[in-house]
This record gives sequence, structure tokens and C-alpha cells, in this order.
Amino acid sequence: MLYPEELIEEVRLRNDIVDVISSYLKLERKGKTYFGLCPFHSEKTPSFSVEPAKQFFYCFGCNKGGSVIQFIMDIEHLEFTDALKLLADRAGIVLPEPEDPGEREKSRRRKEILEINKKAARYFFSLLTGNQGVLARNYLKKRGLTEKTVRKFGLGVSPGGRDELTRYLMAEGADGGLLVDSGLSIRSENGTLTDRFRNRLMFPIFNIRGDIIGFGGRVLDDSLPKYMNSPETLIYNKSRELYGLNYARKSKSSKLLIVEGYMDVISLHQAGIDFAVASLGTALTQSQAWILKKYADEVIICYDSDAAGQNATVRGLEILEKVGCRTKVLLMPEGKDPDEYIRNNGPEKFKNLIDGALSLLDYKIRVKKNMYNQNTVEDRLELLNSIADILAEHDNSIERELYAQDYARQYGISLESLQDEIRKRMNKNHRSEGPRKINSPASSDLPRVDNRYGELEYMLIIMLCMENRLYSTVAKKYGIESFKDEGAKEVAKRLFAKLEHNNSCVLAELLSELSPSLSSYLTGLASKKCNVEDTEKAILHLLQKLEILYLEDLQKQTIERIKNEQDGIKRQELGLEFSKRAERIATLKKMA
Ligand code: CTP
Ligand code: MN
Repeated sequence: MLYPEELIEEVRLRNDIVDVISSYLKLERKGKTYFGLCPFHSEKTPSFSVEPAKQFFYCFGCNKGGSVIQFIMDIEHLEFTDALKLLADRAGIVLPEPEDPGEREKSRRRKEILEINKKAARYFFSLLTGNQGVLARNYLKKRGLTEKTVRKFGLGVSPGGRDELTRYLMAEGADGGLLVDSGLSIRSENGTLTDRFRNRLMFPIFNIRGDIIGFGGRVLDDSLPKYMNSPETLIYNKSRELYGLNYARKSKSSKLLIVEGYMDVISLHQAGIDFAVASLGTALTQSQAWILKKYADEVIICYDSDAAGQNATVRGLEILEKVGCRTKVLLMPEGKDPDEYIRNNGPEKFKNLIDGALSLLDYKIRVKKNMYNQNTVEDRLELLNSIADILAEHDNSIERELYAQDYARQYGISLESLQDEIRKRMNKNHRSEGPRKINSPASSDLPRVDNRYGELEYMLIIMLCMENRLYSTVAKKYGIESFKDEGAKEVAKRLFAKLEHNNSCVLAELLSELSPSLSSYLTGLASKKCNVEDTEKAILHLLQKLEILYLEDLQKQTIERIKNEQDGIKRQELGLEFSKRAERIATLKKMA
């Protein structure tokens, strides 16, 4: 941990969880608990709860939960320290520079890389506008980019020599290590540095604040590879960035359009479609989906219509659906990318394509339709079946009804037979799957918990947080070494250490030190199973249950030993041990 525990705790204490969460969503009070619509999954009735007394949140729908720090990490997509900084700022607490020398070094390095990237971008830009830039300037003109656009996106051109940029930056005072760390230079086997980008059209990649975190470089002709990109660095993590978002987030539109390439984003922005972003040539990731959700009410996927693009679209849809995004698919006419399309047909035509973007259902069915050519009876049957499958999976009954009517008409099948098929499937789905599972990011990474001891041990921890004065009782009866679940043991160690030293610790304090999945698990347990009237009684009860479990395990071992024991006297002793323990178990059970 970078900061001392007391400081983290102070930041937490000075940020009331109800206040903080209220600035993100509407909360309504019901009894002691506040409820609202969960910001982490899509829902129509509130299952997101905030406990003012215990200072934690928990969603009964998607099982996310934790302290106020966890909430900020999740909703703002921040690392722990950045979430802490945000909350400290909010409460007017000044955090010291990180204590950890490794961290301090890293944060200095990050700043240096940002600085050197900025210098490189300026250099690329000056080459583009200077004498050497004729070729690249002509290329950009040919592709229809205006000077204003070039400036806005900071385009440039990299020099053609083997190490021109490297030498330039070194002359400016950069050292070789930094050049390699930034990805601008590559260290060859003999130790000399060469430029990564040579004679390429340069696209600076901006983060959301507009800092340059990396570069993409395109050849000026048809040679390969078409693009070279910065490697992952201390400041550039490809799977978490979206090219163009620094501008798109300021758009008046509440939509975001995801396209494939740099050029697509730039062309679209130039044409006034200022809500386009690119996922940098890779498949959309979950982190990008969270970011898209944060900035848009509706996300429109606009990938190539080739097979690879279709696959990427389906995968993208799944990921976006999972985080609860409203999504649509824009179908590009065969073989065109948005940049080409706009250049040939103008922005208005492209806007029409946006208006005609398909809903998720329409898209899924369109893909099927293209699979079957519909000339044969078999094909029509397959299509009918697929449509029924897709509609049966769809939750909203009104939409299901409307779509069924529509599709029956469109594909020339009778509405009754389609509805019949849908009904059959829905009955089957219900019987085989039970209740539909909520798509939740949290439920997929639940911590491993020993299914006999684990839950009880975690409950003991939670209740001890509620009733600190019972620490010595618990420690005496169930010390650290008694914990059987490895995870619970670790948490108990932390808690016991706190109670030993500063003799107080509430659950929310503990939560802010745990992993997101573990804190979700604990808040879930606290909300569902630890709302008791008499905490002391509940703790004693838990201790009894744990003792019974343990004694019963010992009994099983004793039975095995008796079976294998040759020596009669020893067998007798074991028998005695067994019956004594059986009595104890019986007493405990009677008390419980
Ligand atoms: N890409 C990449 N490396 C490659 C090819 C593509 O990183 N060798 C990424 C780039 O981010 C590129 C995106 O994938 O912008 C889309 O690729 P493509 O459609 O081939 O390029 P365009 O951006 O459309 O470039 P252009 O229109 O100039 O051909
Ligand atoms: Mn293109």
C-alpha cells in the first residue's frame, strides 16, 4: 500500500458514501437503507443499495459492492491511488507524494514519457509542414484532410533515416533509457538505438485528457506493414484507450460511434460526425466497453462488413451488452470503410446510415438471413428457427411481439407459426435454465471460498467489524490459526492486527483494502446474511457452528484411524476420544 492505512481511512471517513454516490445517481431512502438504479448493470427496478450506517454499497442484481473508494474506482475506472486522490481532493485532504520509492520513480517516469512524446509529436509536425514534408502533405491532401484537421489531430511525418528522431531527442537532453521506455526508439542487438517510426505518417494517440500516450505510424504507399504502433508502455495500455475519445467526449451527441481506424475517426470528425472513436485495430475489450458506457447513452458499432468485421461486431456487441450498454450496428455497404464512404458520398449520406443503424435483434437476424439464401424450403425453415431462437432469448415481451409481427411479414412466414415456435423455446428455456442470470461483471470473478468453513469465517469477520469489543472472545476461541479458508485467514489477519493495535475497525475500512471481487463478496454477505438484531449472540452462534464443523471433521478422521488401528488398546483410546467428542457435539448442537 502506497499510503499509510490511517490516511486511507481518513479519506474514506471524510467522504460520506451516500453523498458521494448521490452525485452519480438518484438514491431513495427505504428504512435504514438507500436504493437506486445500479450504475454497473442495466436494470429497471432498483437493486443497488447503500448502507449509510455501514458505509458500503451493494447491488443485489450484479453483486458488486464495497466501500466508497471501491465505488469511485468502479465508476470512474480509476486505480486505487487515483480513486483515493479524487476523494481526498473532494474532502480537501492533501495527500503526500507516494512513499514507495518505486512508485515515485514510476510516476516520474510517466511524466518524462509524456514530455518526450510531446516533443516527438512537435518534431513530426514540423517535418510535415517543412520542406521534407511535401510527399506526406500531398498524401494527406489526396485523402481529403484539411490543414485544420491535420492540426487538430496533431498529424506529422517521421524522418526517413535510421536514427534521426533518436539523435534529435538526445540532443534535446533525453537519455537512451527514456527513449526505449517511451517506445520511440528500439535498442538493437549491438546496443545502438534506432527509430521505431521511419518515414511514416504519424498519428499521435491521445488519452482522454489530451496527453500524447503513443503513436501510430502509417506508410505513405502500399508497403507493409501498413501500420507500426507504439508498444505498451508505462503510460500506454492499448486495451484501455479509445482513439478520438478526447474529442468525442465533448460532442453534443449522447452517442458514440466505434470505427476501426485512425483515418476513419479523423474523416468522420472532419465531416462533423464528432462522436466517432476507434478501438485501435483490436477487438473491443471490457475496459473499453465500460468507458464507452460512461460517456454514451448509445453505442453504435461500425466495423467492416467482411467476415472479420462481422465477427468483431458480434464479439463487440456481446461485450457491450454485458456491461449494460445500449447498442446498435451500422452496416457499411460492402467493402467500404467510413472514411472512404464519406469521401465518396458526403456526410449527409453517412448520417442516414447512422439513423438506419440496426438494433441488436435486427442485426442478429440479418446475419442469419445472409447465412441462408432462402431459396429452398430447408433454408426458410432454418431461418424461421433461428429467428424463433433469437426472439425467445429476448427479454422484453412487447418488443418480442412487435418484432415477431415484423419478421413474419418480412420473411413471408405466418405469424402464428413463428409465435408458436417462440413459445415452445421459451418454455424450454425456463425449465432447463431456471431464472435468467444477470450479466454482471462482478459475478464472473467471485473469490474462491471454501464452501463449508469459508462463508462462516467471513461472516465472523463481518460481525466482528460490527462489534469490535468481542475481539478478545473471538481471538481466544477462533484464532488466526483456526481459519480454514485461506482467503478468510488473510482478511482475518488484517482485521486482528488492527483490533490488536488501534482497537477499532469497521467493515468499510477493511473493504477498502481488499480486491474488488472480495469486497463485493463481503458486502453481499453483510447485506444478505449479517443483518441481525443481536450481534453478540450471532457471533457466539457462529463460533458454535464453526466448532461443530471442526469437531465433526475430527470425528471422521478418528473413525478412519480406528478402522486402521491394529493395537487394541489404542483402538479403545480412540473410541473413548470419539464418544467424548460426540457428547461435546451434542451439547453444542443443543445450545445452537
Ligand atoms: N492497424 C494496425 N496495424 C496494421 C493494420 C491496421 O494497427 N498492420 C490498425 C490501425 O489502428 C488502423 C486500423 O487497424 O487504423 C484499421 O486498419 P485499416 O482499415 O487497414 O486501416 P485504415 O485506418 O483504414 O487506413 P487506410 O484507410 O489509410 O488504409
Ligand atoms: Mn481506411
